[in-house]
Amino acid sequence: MKPDLTDQTILITGSGRGLGKHAAIHLASCGAIIGVADIDGNIAQETVAAIVKNGGRAKPYIGDLSDRGTFEQIAADFAAQSGHIDAIINNAMLLRYSPVQDVDEETLSAMLDIGIKALFWSAQAMLKHYDKERGGTIINMASPVATRGFANTSVYSTVKGAVTVFTKTMAAELGPQNIRVNAVSPASVPTPGALGLNSKEEYEKRAAWIPLRRNGTEEDNSNAIAFLLSKEASFVHGEIFNVDGGVAACN
Ligand SMILES: NC(=O)c1ccc[n+]([C@@H]2O[C@H](COP(=O)([O-])OP(=O)(O)OC[C@H]3O[C@@H](n4cnc5c(N)ncnc54)[C@H](O)[C@@H]3O)[C@@H](O)[C@H]2O)c1
Repeated sequence: MKPDLTDQTILITGSGRGLGKHAAIHLASCGAIIGVADIDGNIAQETVAAIVKNGGRAKPYIGDLSDRGTFEQIAADFAAQSGHIDAIINNAMLLRYSPVQDVDEETLSAMLDIGIKALFWSAQAMLKHYDKERGGTIINMASPVATRGFANTSVYSTVKGAVTVFTKTMAAELGPQNIRVNAVSPASVPTPGALGLNSKEEYEKRAAWIPLRRNGTEEDNSNAIAFLLSKEASFVHGEIFNVDGGVAACN
């Protein structure tokens, strides 16, 4: 059963494709008003068009969300629609793997900026635009790489480690202000971004060792996000919610 998210205003970063796009469409189908934020305007428009075609409500917001001023402006524009923001989903990320000796400064900075700095801008935006009575929710996207060593993922894993600790820190700091902060930790979903890192053959191999013997899906992830946003999850806070077929359990 889908949770009722009627009139919840939810800003989703990186929702032009992949997990963010699927979550945007799913949450809109639960009644939410979605801000589709992405650095790529064409794909953001496509997500909005898919939502509107289904009878949902969404608008595109285009910009580099690693930039503080851009994040602030997008959040302010989205909040202006209904006067507040109920939730921000920090989903945008630049996915790159390489051996540590090949990490170049430009890629490192770009990954740290969108993966880590943008989390700070989102917390600031939430504090500025949430309604204290309604409360706010932040959901970050973690990964099993945060807690287990995988070769050639040094930057990505560093980002996801930071996402995990930031989630817990914000739970301690923002909980008393009626803002719930959680993370979803998916594994092995062959999205467009992830397929740039891993081949289809790699996904077949993974399906053979993941305890539930399959890869993850976008639906798995969107269902978890919808639950964390629902009234039923009102006491779930500071949680790293593994949606990974058991990968993290086998660390
Ligand atoms: N796919 C998986 O198996 C998996 C597993 C664990 C965690 N995650 C996390 O889930 C999230 C989504 O993953 P995905 O596989 O859908 O990725 P993806 O690469 O398919 O999508 C990422 C989106 O973020 C946008 N983006 C990138 N940089 C941006 C910026 N600076 N400003 C605004 N938008 C920007 C991209 O344009 C893209 O639409 C990421 O945080 C990822 O780390 C994914």
